[in-house]
Amino acid sequence: MPTPKTLRLHAFGLDHLALEDIVLGPLGPSDVHVRFHAASLNYRDLMVVRGEYNPKLQMPRIPGSDAAGEVLAVGPAVTTLKPGDRVASLFFQDWRDGPIQNATGKSALGGPIDGVFATERILPASGLIRIPDSLTYEQAATLPCAALTAWNALVERGGLFAGQTVLTLGTGGVSLFALQFASAMGARVIATSSSDEKLVRAQALGASATVNYRANPQWDQEVQALTNKRGVDHVVEVGGAGTLPLSLKAVTPGGKVYVIGVLSGKGATIDPTPILAKSVQVHGIYVGSRGMFERMLAAIEANRIQPVIDRVFPLADYRAAFEHMANGAHFGKIVLDLAM
Ligand SMILES: NC(=O)c1ccc[n+]([C@@H]2O[C@H](COP(=O)([O-])OP(=O)(O)OC[C@H]3O[C@@H](n4cnc5c(N)ncnc54)[C@H](OP(=O)(O)O)[C@@H]3O)[C@@H](O)[C@H]2O)c1
Repeated sequence: MPTPKTLRLHAFGLDHLALEDIVLGPLGPSDVHVRFHAASLNYRDLMVVRGEYNPKLQMPRIPGSDAAGEVLAVGPAVTTLKPGDRVASLFFQDWRDGPIQNATGKSALGGPIDGVFATERILPASGLIRIPDSLTYEQAATLPCAALTAWNALVERGGLFAGQTVLTLGTGGVSLFALQFASAMGARVIATSSSDEKLVRAQALGASATVNYRANPQWDQEVQALTNKRGVDHVVEVGGAGTLPLSLKAVTPGGKVYVIGVLSGKGATIDPTPILAKSVQVHGIYVGSRGMFERMLAAIEANRIQPVIDRVFPLADYRAAFEHMANGAHFGKIVLDLAM
């Protein structure tokens, strides 16, 4: 058996991320020993490594929230999983269902607790979810953060229904899952990107209209024109400071804006006027619960949704994978192959 390996962050910066041996702790009664086959990167992981996510992060820390693999062994009290089962990690190790709690955030993998950029880990059974046979490990590894966030926003919180219009920003992980979920539900999707080539690919995935936000810095006006000046029903707002004001202009009166990301920066001063004048529903979204994950998997299976994987990097090439994300050239998810 090869020695289990992990990525470990010793100080902020890619230079301080190292591929090392991992010594696994004892298997507790409610624990599961998992061999992970694939993991996926989220923009959050890049922020964690750069020190932009939590400047007070405890070191050393194993990054990563998203991985999928097989169960090797279970503790004596585990009844829900058995050796050989195929599983994915839950972003929040401790959020079963219902509304988010004060303590939920403290159970997030790859932040306050060690994550899953590792070939093997011991995790509580409650922190893993069984995955359908129809998904490869690479596909399943894309789901715990990006897909669940998009699902939580549009479906769980948003109550999206067929015929509504959804605006997605850029073509990263969260946005493409939002596009796929929305088009599977019969919604009309307007997708934005900085690249015309990526917009063609977004159309192939189901977007019915597209806007290049780099060529059209006032892209909200394009979105208004595409909706006959009505505005969209839902905005999957991953941009943050630089995009939120325009998202508030692009949404229809009474529509929903899901505040998810900070790709264009944090710390904005937001004018509340359009929110009140248009009665916009602004929802903060923080990934999702196990219950939401179960419902999302059912929808992925029923609609045969194929996660969009941009590139797969061997774990040993982790640096190239992080740099690929930092360059923003990707379309969809970046995956790490954990086979060593
Ligand atoms: N709240 C939560 O629970 C939660 C969960 C997941 C992610 N997030 C956050 O959501 C954001 C997206 O995460 P991700 O993992 O999907 O990122 P990602 O895969 O790295 O997406 C990057 C893409 O976003 C687009 N983008 C960058 N700047 C943009 C801008 N100013 N306007 C519009 N699009 C822009 C670019 O697309 P083009 O190349 O097409 O232009 C870029 O390729 C991040 O801020 C992340 O931290 C939050």
